[in-house]
Amino acid sequence: MKLLVTGGAGFIGSNFVRYFMGRHESAVVTLDALTYAGNLANLEPVLKNHRHTFVKGDICDPAAVDAAMAGADAVIHFAAESHVDRSIENAGVFLQTNVLGTGVLLEAARRHNIKKFVHVSTDEVYGSIAEGYSGESSHLHPNSPYAASKASSDLLALSYHATFGLPVVVTRCSNNFGPYQFPEKLIPLFITNALEDKPLPIYGDGLYVRDWIYVDDHCAAVEKVLFAGREGEVYNIGGTKDRTNLSITDLILQKLGKPQSLKKNVQDRLGHDRRYAIDSAKIESELGWRPAFTFDEAMEKTIGWYLENREWWGAIKSGEYRAYYEKHYARRLAES
Ligand SMILES: NC(=O)c1ccc[n+]([C@@H]2O[C@H](COP(=O)([O-])OP(=O)(O)OC[C@H]3O[C@@H](n4cnc5c(N)ncnc54)[C@H](O)[C@@H]3O)[C@@H](O)[C@H]2O)c1
Repeated sequence: MKLLVTGGAGFIGSNFVRYFMGRHESAVVTLDALTYAGNLANLEPVLKNHRHTFVKGDICDPAAVDAAMAGADAVIHFAAESHVDRSIENAGVFLQTNVLGTGVLLEAARRHNIKKFVHVSTDEVYGSIAEGYSGESSHLHPNSPYAASKASSDLLALSYHATFGLPVVVTRCSNNFGPYQFPEKLIPLFITNALEDKPLPIYGDGLYVRDWIYVDDHCAAVEKVLFAGREGEVYNIGGTKDRTNLSITDLILQKLGKPQSLKKNVQDRLGHDRRYAIDSAKIESELGWRPAFTFDEAMEKTIGWYLENREWWGAIKSGEYRAYYEKHYARRLAES
């Protein structure tokens, strides 16, 4: 089997490429534009493997996509702009990559007779729910430009199954964490800030609830969907570990032996969804997938990885990202 993985130099994509190549003899082509979030260092362990090919290219570019997809049997589509805060500041690139880029890939998949197209979507497409859990047929109510762009691409992918019979499967996963996550996302931002004795900027009252999943569990679920997911179906992938941001902050400080005084409540994110929670019964009963890691085990592994890989995140935090961080949080922290 030859697999095309888009966005494979990002957080989840690179974890998936390493995970998958460690378990299968397949050839893997990674197509990634290497935006601020893409990093070849994430693929270090497989870059010299003869079964792996890295292609720097944009999913919005039909010629680049055609060349990368040549001879592929299946596509796992991770490439996206993925940070909600950035989508609030500049939605344009989210529409471009997440919606139009997905359209380019789907058209190419038709031409190349792709046997399985796994579109990696998110639980954010369901929007906030006060209680209970969103199932695959729940109403979609995306609230941020990021979530709306993902809902659009998710529905576009499903339309290619309904209209053209393209073998599309959509996954909607909850919040991931683990090694190689770009330190703008909550868990790596807070771990690395705590390690540097910098403030941990908590949006609003910190009582926002998310379901958290260890990235390896997400990778295992995508693998199941690739081999056994039914075409035209949607599968929720959740860690059933609903937690508030505040409880995660406390856990990080406690595990690193850092003081509570590092916590700083800052001005809230616009349109911040209060609670996401999904029901993963379908993938559990149909495909036999279940998360293998408890939240505590996964946090131990994640914190351990950031402790051992200061060079990786230190380089990111001292580069272009620093200017973004300072612009985004400086005023909020100053006002707190
Ligand atoms: N992180 C989460 O908690 C989470 C949860 C559910 C679903 N998802 C989805 O999983 C996927 C991966 O998320 P992530 O957290 O790894 O994101 P990420 O931002 O870490 O990585 C995205 C990757 O896509 C690449 N990319 C961006 N624009 C591109 C373009 N135009 N052409 C080619 N490559 C491009 C980037 O260079 C980067 O390597 C996304 O589709 C995201 O919506 C993420």
